[in-house]
Amino acid sequence: MHKMKPARTTASVPTESEVAARVEALLARMSLAEKIGQLNQAGGADFAPGPRAEDQIRTGGAGSVLWVNDTRRFNELQKIAIAESPSGIPLLFALDVIHGYRTIFPVPLAMAASWDPAVPEQSQAVAARESRAAGIHWTFAPMIDIARDARWGRIVEGAGEDPYLGAVMAAAQVRGFQGDDHADPERVLACAKHFAGYGASDGGRDYDPVYLSESQLRNTYLPPFAAAVKAGAATFMSAYMDLNDVPASGNRFLLRQVLREEWGFEGFVVSDAFAVGNMIIQGHARDGRDAALRGLKAGLNMDMSSYTYTNHAAELVAEGALTVAEIEELVRPVLALKVKMGLFERPYVDEALLTEVVARPDHRATARWAAQRSMVLLKNEGGLLPLSQELKKVAVIGPVADSMSATEGSWMVFGHQPAAVTVLAGIRARLPHATVTYAPGPEIRRDIPSWFESMMAGETRKAAQTPEEAEAAFQLAVETARAADQIVMVLGETDLMAGEAASRASLDLPGRQEELLKAVAALGKPVVLVLLNGRPLSINWAAEHIPAILEAWEPGTEGGHAVADILFGDVNPGGKLPVSFPRKGSHAPLYYARNLTHSPEGSRMYNPRYWDGLPTPLYPFGYGLSYTTFAFTNLRLSAAQVKVGDTLNVSVDVTNTGAVAGDEVAQLYIHQRWGSDSRPMRELKGFARVTLQPGETKPVTFTLGPDELRYWSTNAGGWLQEAAVFDLWVGSDSLATLHGEFEVVA
Ligand code: NOJ
Repeated sequence: MHKMKPARTTASVPTESEVAARVEALLARMSLAEKIGQLNQAGGADFAPGPRAEDQIRTGGAGSVLWVNDTRRFNELQKIAIAESPSGIPLLFALDVIHGYRTIFPVPLAMAASWDPAVPEQSQAVAARESRAAGIHWTFAPMIDIARDARWGRIVEGAGEDPYLGAVMAAAQVRGFQGDDHADPERVLACAKHFAGYGASDGGRDYDPVYLSESQLRNTYLPPFAAAVKAGAATFMSAYMDLNDVPASGNRFLLRQVLREEWGFEGFVVSDAFAVGNMIIQGHARDGRDAALRGLKAGLNMDMSSYTYTNHAAELVAEGALTVAEIEELVRPVLALKVKMGLFERPYVDEALLTEVVARPDHRATARWAAQRSMVLLKNEGGLLPLSQELKKVAVIGPVADSMSATEGSWMVFGHQPAAVTVLAGIRARLPHATVTYAPGPEIRRDIPSWFESMMAGETRKAAQTPEEAEAAFQLAVETARAADQIVMVLGETDLMAGEAASRASLDLPGRQEELLKAVAALGKPVVLVLLNGRPLSINWAAEHIPAILEAWEPGTEGGHAVADILFGDVNPGGKLPVSFPRKGSHAPLYYARNLTHSPEGSRMYNPRYWDGLPTPLYPFGYGLSYTTFAFTNLRLSAAQVKVGDTLNVSVDVTNTGAVAGDEVAQLYIHQRWGSDSRPMRELKGFARVTLQPGETKPVTFTLGPDELRYWSTNAGGWLQEAAVFDLWVGSDSLATLHGEFEVVA
C-alpha cells in the first residue's frame, strides 16, 4: 500500500567516469585550504562552538553545515558558498531526520517491530521527501546499532537486538531515504551510524567505552552496517566511544580495513559531533593537531564541528606529516556525492515547496499505517480486546495519554513542534458519542535532566510537582477511572526518557505509574494498558494482573488514531518484539541468541542463573499476539543434507485458525550443533509477515545458503561455513517449537 512514484525532474545519471572527471577538474582549481574545508562540517546553531558558519563558508572553509532547519537560511548560506567562496562549491545541508520530518513516523525500534521492511522504507521515503523540500540534503540516519541492553537510551533509534532483523531494517531505511538515484529531488543521502559497536556500551551508559570481541563485532554488531553498504548508503558516521580502546573516529581497523577494503564502501565518513576533538579527552590524541592527524590517517573524511581539520590539516601538510594526496583521497567522495546529487546545477531549494509537500494526505496515511503495523499486542486475556465500539463511558488515564511529545517520541527534528494525535485524541475521535474522560495522574520526569533537556527547556523547565500536587493528581485519576465503564491506562516514558543521553538503570515504569495502575485495577473494572515507550520496560506486575496490554511504542503523528484503530478492532495487531523484554534492568544485556553452557535450563543439574528471580525475558524476542490465532504445520526441507556452499529451502504452512483476518510473522531460527566456535542456541535467519483470512493457509519458504550458515570464527580468524548438523525451528517467536534438522557436509 501507499506506493509513491516521485515525479522525476532529473537529467540522466552521470557515469562514474564522468563524475570522476568533474571531481578531478574541481580539485585542480581548489586551494589546499578549500580542500580541507570540504572535510569540515560547520555547526549552524547558536549552541555550536567555532566561528560563525557564514564566515567559514565564505572562505571555502566548510563543505557541509548541520543544525540548521530553516529553508530560507539554507538558501542564504548556499548563496554565500556559490557566489562568495573561492571555488563556489555548494554546501551539503545535514540534519537528524530520524523518523520523519514534519509527518512523524513511529520511532525506528517500533518500525522494526512491524517485521515488515516496507514500513521503514515507505516511512523514510516520506521523511526524505519532506526534509528535502525543506532544503535538507543529508540525514544522519539510519541509526543501525544493535542494542541488547535496554537501559541504553538509544535503543529507541535502532532495530533492537538482532543482526538479521537489523540488517533487513537497515537496508530498507537506506532505500527509503535514498531511492536509487542521488539526483532524485525527493530523496536525501543516508548516513549509517554509529560505526561501530555503540550499542554495547559498558552498563548501557551512553557514550561509555565498548569492549567487543571480533566475533561479537562481526557476527552481531556489523551485519546491519554491511547491509547498509550493500544497499548503497552514501555516508557513514563514526561512533563516539572507544571500541576496544581505540576511538571509533580514529579507528583504522573499522574505517579502512572493514569499511573500505572488505566492504568496498565508496562514500564518505563523518565523525559524530565533536568526536575528532574528543580523541583528546579519550586519551588517544595528544592535542588538536594530533587528533586531526589520527582522524585523517584513519580515513575519517569529515570532522563534525570540532574544527581540528580546519585548524591543523594545512600545518600537518606543511610539516610533511600528511600529503596533499592523502587529503584529496578524503575529499573525492564528498565532491563526488555533490556532483551526483546535481547540487552544482540545482543548489537552491524552492522556498514555496515545503508547505505543499507536508500537507500531502498520503504522508499522514502512511504514518497511520506504519504505526498500526508497528504495534505489538502483549496480552489479551479473555479476548478483552478489541473493545466494543458501543462503549459509553471510557476513562483514559496516564501521564502520556495526552502528550504530543511522548506520542511523537524521542529524536524529534531540531526545532520541530510536536503536533501528534495523542491516544486520548484518537480514542475521542473514534468514539464521538461516548463520554471519554481523562486524567494524567502524577507527572513523570527524569530525575536528572540531560544537556539536551536543559538546552531545550532552558530556564523554562517546569518546576516539579510537589508531593501534595502529585497526590491530588493521583486521587483525581483514580476517581476519574471509578466513574467509567472501561479504563484505558496509557503509561510509559516521555520522549526525553529514551534517546541520546537517556540511559537509565531501571526498566520500571517511571514515577508512580505502577502504583496508579494498581489503584485503578483495584476498582475491579476492565482495564487495558497501552504502553508508550522507546525501550523495553519491566512491566512484571502489569503482565500478571492487567488483562490486555498493547505495546504502542512512540508511534508518531498519527499514533493516537492507530492505537484507537487497534483497540476498537478496525485493525488487527501483528507486530512482534524486535527485542527481549527483561524482567529487570539489571538483567541487561539480555538477548535470545545466547550460547549454551554448563547446566543449561531443562537439564538435570540445572542451576538457576540468579537465585533472586528468573533471568528469562518477560516477553521473548519475536513475540506478539493477534486477535486471531495461527498454526504452523507441514515443515519441509528441500534436502536433509547439503554441501557446504549449497542452498536449502525450508517451507512451512501458516494457517489462520481463528475467526478474523490477521497477520502472522513466520520466523526461522537455526542452531549449528558443533563447530570451530560455539554458536548461539538460536539465530534468526528468515522471516515473513503474511496476511491470512480466517481459515486461510499460505506456504512460506525460506532459503538457507552460505550467507545464513556462515559465521566469523575466533578460532579460524575468518569467515567459516562448516560441515555440521543444524537444528531449525519455525514459528511465531524465538521460542518456536516446530523443529527440523539438516546436515551440511563437506
Ligand atoms: C550526536 C549524535 O550521537 C548523532 O547521532 C547525531 O547525528 C549528531 N549528534 C548530530 O546531531
